[in-house]
Amino acid sequence: MGFKRTIFLTFIITVCFLSLFNAEDQPLLCSQCKCVTLNDSSLEVTCSSDVTSTIFSPSNKSNTSTISKLTVRNNNFNNMTNHFPFENLTILDLTGNKIVHIADNIFKKLQKLEILILSYNNIEILQPNSFEGEYEAGDFYPLRSLRTILLDHNNLHSLNSDLFEHTEHVEQLSLSHNPLKMIDTHTAIAITNLVFLKNLDLSFTQISTLPSSFLHTPRNIEILNLSGNNFTEVPQELKEAHSLKTLLFNGNPMEKLTRANGFPKIPTLRILHLCQMPKLVSIGPGSLANLTNIEELFIAGNPLLTRIDDAAIATADNSGTYDIWPSIRKIFLNDNQLSYINRSLLARWDSLADLDLLNNPWTCECENQWMVETLLPIYLKIDQESAKKMKCAAPIEMSSFTFEELYNKSYQMRCLDYYGARPERDAALLVGMLAGLLTGIPIVLFCMYSYKRHWFGLFDDSPAAFSRQFYTKTNSVYEY
Ligand SMILES: *[C@@H]1O[C@H](CO)[C@@H](O)[C@H](O)[C@H]1NC(C)=O
Ligand SMILES: *[C@@H]1O[C@H](CO)[C@@H](O)[C@H](O)[C@H]1NC(C)=O
Ligand SMILES: *[C@@H]1O[C@H](CO)[C@@H](O)[C@H](O)[C@H]1NC(C)=O
Ligand SMILES: *[C@@H]1O[C@H](CO)[C@@H](O)[C@H](O)[C@H]1NC(C)=O
Ligand SMILES: *[C@@H]1O[C@H](CO)[C@@H](O)[C@H](O)[C@H]1NC(C)=O
Ligand SMILES: *[C@@H]1O[C@H](CO)[C@@H](O)[C@H](O)[C@H]1NC(C)=O
Ligand SMILES: *[C@@H]1O[C@H](CO)[C@@H](O)[C@H](O)[C@H]1NC(C)=O
Ligand SMILES: *[C@@H]1O[C@H](CO)[C@@H](O)[C@H](O)[C@H]1NC(C)=O
Ligand SMILES: *[C@@H]1O[C@H](CO)[C@@H](O)[C@H](O)[C@H]1NC(C)=O
Ligand SMILES: *[C@@H]1O[C@H](CO)[C@@H](O)[C@H](O)[C@H]1NC(C)=O
Repeated sequence: MGFKRTIFLTFIITVCFLSLFNAEDQPLLCSQCKCVTLNDSSLEVTCSSDVTSTIFSPSNKSNTSTISKLTVRNNNFNNMTNHFPFENLTILDLTGNKIVHIADNIFKKLQKLEILILSYNNIEILQPNSFEGEYEAGDFYPLRSLRTILLDHNNLHSLNSDLFEHTEHVEQLSLSHNPLKMIDTHTAIAITNLVFLKNLDLSFTQISTLPSSFLHTPRNIEILNLSGNNFTEVPQELKEAHSLKTLLFNGNPMEKLTRANGFPKIPTLRILHLCQMPKLVSIGPGSLANLTNIEELFIAGNPLLTRIDDAAIATADNSGTYDIWPSIRKIFLNDNQLSYINRSLLARWDSLADLDLLNNPWTCECENQWMVETLLPIYLKIDQESAKKMKCAAPIEMSSFTFEELYNKSYQMRCLDYYGARPERDAALLVGMLAGLLTGIPIVLFCMYSYKRHWFGLFDDSPAAFSRQFYTKTNSVYEY
């Protein structure tokens, strides 16, 4: 009995000791926040209650160096003046903490910090030393490891030109949803200081132009997001980009994309998004032709887009004899108002890896015959489910058909007239025929009547008729 009790007690004591040890080992923050131990035995800490005193208070000896990821939400930081003490932190997420002001160098101890997220705060002004690090011989107070700064959904109008002086290795910057309205000189200098920048998000900043040379200095920008802005034409400064691969230009109020206001030469561009453009009506000839290496085109969800010109993408070669097309791999034209596309829009529809044409009012007339005969089988191979949903919207009598039915029946769609068939013209034709008939009937009746009355002997070529005509004439002569 005594022996068993001893074992039991030892067990309890061990458990208690272990949990006590663990509690000591864990940072104090873990009593208020959710802590998860990661593979490399570092901690991921997520706090959603008020932790201001625990995080910053120097009298609280919390073991902070084990924390590698820290997320703090719903705090009222407002004026941030305390230094963050977590030396091994790699990700600091301060989304949504009502931050208005950030004092100088509060992040300076975070020399391992790679990602700094300050989204959804009320930051209006960032002092030039907000992102200052610690002094280092030969270097200028760097935040050595910082690669990503997200400042989206704040209240920034402009950036201090020296803001990113200490964070020169940053590769990703988001200023999305800030009321910049224009990129002034200071902001332009701040951004172009980031020579290693790869991904720049300027979406929803109300800008309508890019400053000249803006894309000249940062040689590495690969992804540029200009969506949701006030551009009424494509900024020609894009031609200065050196490495631009992906351009997002969604939701800008352009009306017509033409050869004159379309895309400049961007030989590096692979992916273009032109979606949810509220006013876009047409994409004209040559307007996309300068994107000679484009591979993926997203032109979807444009509520007014009725026309993409046959020659929107192709360019004539030097002699003007042949067209040259980029080798497009993916094209998304869904949810527009397109009724027709010409097969010469792309060179090789059969080399597509992805395609979406749904939710457009396609016309089932001979101009789109190729879509049923040639494109549908390709579409069925790429995405059977979508392809089966392709259907006719016009003319009325075709609107119950799917493309697949027409394809299965080898149906030849009609061509109404030379100028692009319109069923309304049938009605006009019918009215014309009716009018003809109505005026024709009296004429026919008149002819029949006059025949009976022998007014036109010429219609009756029997000998009797001839003599009758003769004698009437003579009679009339003799009457006088
Ligand atoms: C802090 O954590 C480290 C590593 O887990 C540990 O070695 C050290 O004892 C802890 N320090 C305190 C004061 O808890
Ligand atoms: C952590 O370990 C799990 C299983 O051992 C592994 O699947 C996962 O990829 C690892 N995660 C990281 C970030 O190394
Ligand atoms: C230390 O942290 C505890 C727990 O969060 C808190 O109650 C206390 O006020 C802090 N001490 C100081 C001096 O801020
Ligand atoms: C901080 O990280 C380094 C290397 O990543 C590691 O050697 C060190 O133990 C970490 N410090 C603590 C207190 O965990
Ligand atoms: C923020 O706090 C610091 C130090 O407490 C003070 O000097 C500064 O004026 C404050 N700034 C604002 C905007 O409240
Ligand atoms: C940008 O467009 C939006 C929506 O049309 C408008 O409310 C805003 O005033 C415009 N901003 C500028 C700077 O032109
Ligand atoms: C802008 O584009 C980038 C790159 O695709 C993306 O990460 C970011 O979420 C986009 N911004 C918005 C507001 O959609
Ligand atoms: C396309 O490139 C040619 C040759 O550089 C240029 O003349 C033309 O203006 C460009 N088109 C647009 C829309 O910028
Ligand atoms: C398709 O485009 C080519 C080249 O621009 C043109 O010759 C042809 O007439 C177009 N087809 C239709 C049906 O409009
Ligand atoms: C068209 O033909 C294919 C193969 O013969 C068949 O699987 C498919 O169900 C048919 N589709 C329609 C809508 O008739």
